[in-house]
Amino acid sequence: MNIIYSEVSKQFHLFNEEVSYIFKVLHNGHLCNLYYGSKLNHKDDFKNFYFESDLGATSYINDESKISFEYIRQEYSTFGCTDFTEGSYEIVQKDESYITDFKYKSHKIYDGKNKISNGDLPATFSNGDVKTLEVTLFDDKIGCELVLNYSIFKNKSVIARSTVVKSLKEEIKITRLMSSTVDFEGDNFELLQLEGAWIRERHIEKSKLRKGKQSIYSLRGCSSPQHNPFFALGKGEIKEYTGEVYGFNFVYSGNFLAEIDVNHYSNTRVNVGIHPFKFEANLKKGEVFETPEVILSYSNKGLNGLSQTNHKLIKENLMKNYELPPIVINNWEATYFDFDEQKLLNLAKKAKEIGVETFVLDDGWFGRRNDATSSLGDWYVNENKLPNGITGLCKKINDLGMNFGLWIEPEMVNKESELYKQKPDWAIQTPNRNMSQGRNQYVLDFANDEVVEYIYEKISNILNSCNISYVKWDMNRHITEGYSKTLQNQGLFYHKYILGVYKLMRKLTEQFPKIMFENCSSGGGRFDLGMLYYSPQIWTSDNTDPVDRLNIQEGTSIAYPLRAISNHISVAPNHQTGRKTPISMRANVAYFGCFGYELDLTKNDENELKLFKSQIEFYKKYRNLIIEGDFYRTTESGIKNNYCWQVVSKDKKESIVGAYQIKSETNELRKVIKLVGLNKDTQYCVTGFQQTFFGDELMNVGIPITKYFNGVSMNFEDMKESVENEGVYGICDYSSQIFLIKAI
Ligand code: DGJ
Repeated sequence: MNIIYSEVSKQFHLFNEEVSYIFKVLHNGHLCNLYYGSKLNHKDDFKNFYFESDLGATSYINDESKISFEYIRQEYSTFGCTDFTEGSYEIVQKDESYITDFKYKSHKIYDGKNKISNGDLPATFSNGDVKTLEVTLFDDKIGCELVLNYSIFKNKSVIARSTVVKSLKEEIKITRLMSSTVDFEGDNFELLQLEGAWIRERHIEKSKLRKGKQSIYSLRGCSSPQHNPFFALGKGEIKEYTGEVYGFNFVYSGNFLAEIDVNHYSNTRVNVGIHPFKFEANLKKGEVFETPEVILSYSNKGLNGLSQTNHKLIKENLMKNYELPPIVINNWEATYFDFDEQKLLNLAKKAKEIGVETFVLDDGWFGRRNDATSSLGDWYVNENKLPNGITGLCKKINDLGMNFGLWIEPEMVNKESELYKQKPDWAIQTPNRNMSQGRNQYVLDFANDEVVEYIYEKISNILNSCNISYVKWDMNRHITEGYSKTLQNQGLFYHKYILGVYKLMRKLTEQFPKIMFENCSSGGGRFDLGMLYYSPQIWTSDNTDPVDRLNIQEGTSIAYPLRAISNHISVAPNHQTGRKTPISMRANVAYFGCFGYELDLTKNDENELKLFKSQIEFYKKYRNLIIEGDFYRTTESGIKNNYCWQVVSKDKKESIVGAYQIKSETNELRKVIKLVGLNKDTQYCVTGFQQTFFGDELMNVGIPITKYFNGVSMNFEDMKESVENEGVYGICDYSSQIFLIKAI
């Protein structure tokens, strides 16, 4: 990886083995993008990439030149000086004018990368594998600096960008400040976004770009299950294994805007940043504002290549606390709020018997909480339920030989709580206006540092009180009537709120480095890179139905590694969908991520417990491969009837394949599972087959699956047990199978 600045051509070239990003300083001092795509050999002057045109019916920045920002692709743009879009930023000055003229002043290139806002914001870090370019632009009228940061990573086609504004002279008002702008030539792109809602998070949606603006955003105070902050643009059509795909992901958990604007010259602009709606930052002389980071990733090997790049980056350069996930039992779907110490211990004992490693106590252990109407904010134990406290329960769980985990929802308060009685104004509200509720609860004003410090004290006391190794951090409603009495500038409310959340996460993760934090927001409602910085896994969805999980996990895998994707086996009929699926299907889907259970094991018979035990043995044996291997979706991603997922070890000697069928396909000749990622010349054995296969056979022809049952030759009753227990792919509704591929 390298960053070269050519003095003569005034061009910057950021490149590694896979990607090149090139831009230049124009003769008027502005920056213009020349190229972003597959790696190019370095030249001191990519002369031909820049052109000026004499176009009709447009405006030029002066009489001498033909520079018009209507067609010249910029690095960071502003409205009003021949650019007729909203641009990357808006800085309003004392006299209410908004025109600026930021010109190249200087640049720095250095190894590594700096923290953003001194670590107040999560961001990728260097492991000796990053080089950074900081370009400083200056507007001499207002005495203001604009710094554009670019960090390029070794062996990963990734460039991380962020922006800084420094006011050196007068007071300014920032009303829009994107973290990055990328102007592409051409508009023949397909957009892939991850859309959803509670219990149907991150479903893949694809559409052709059209002229004008299209956007993905959140104004909910969190990144949201509605629109994930990740999206991709593919040249032409997005394909799984071929073609160029550009990924964008925002390292931020609050309100965001990802905006794509296709103009009349067919240039495509992509802006990503804090949502400008209700955003305003006022800077006095000497003050600075830093944006969160955007991850630009690139693949010329289709969407799967892009996913693998993102997975690698997140595991190696973003997750602070990275280790293999424990196998958990979580009591939520097993007991909901209805538990006492004995009930929990009975569940834990059964879990221990089958090999579970961590017992996680979910909601309902504190205050007077027996349902969702009370006690959030009262972070002391409910002694009616747990007479020996969390300390006593934790000890008993530890004595069973298991680790102990605890659920918290630190950002919330119920009106029915001691905290609310004492501090009603700590709940977010606009004075003299109605306060809307969600799940009977209110969001605490984390823009107020006093609130953050108070909650920190309470939670750290609990975490200090016993041997807790795992915390599930929940967040179950979005912000309404957003306002903080402690802020003079309400334009910073949403940003300060999320900074407060990050502060609490930072303090707790630093104080308790051995605790593994799992994030959750009614399932995967805050599945973003900001959260993954502090907590390496996220409860993917409250929907535990394996059929729905196929879509949810497949969508999630586009942007996030299996290490982040937390999956539990629950009961059938499923609590969210009422669907009855075989145990094998539930396990085979849950294996692809962080594995666990969420059901009342005391109600399972010996046979089922035996199956769970063997599932756990399987996961323990292959956990390293699943988490550390390369993940492939072996068919085109999206909603379909047959899904197939594969992980391959780095040395390509081992692979696990999960094949899933939702609806039975009648009178089908046979099924073939075409694999990927293997060594073409290596011979492999495949579970269930006597013969061996070369990698090239498995990748070009595939594993042939004979249909066991065709309505004539076999009695379905004979098959039923193996479908339920082991899984046999392709013979009936909700059938699935795991294949182990091993080099011989
Ligand atoms: C929502 C979470 O997603 C569930 O797993 C569970 O923890 C409940 N909250 C508890 O209230």
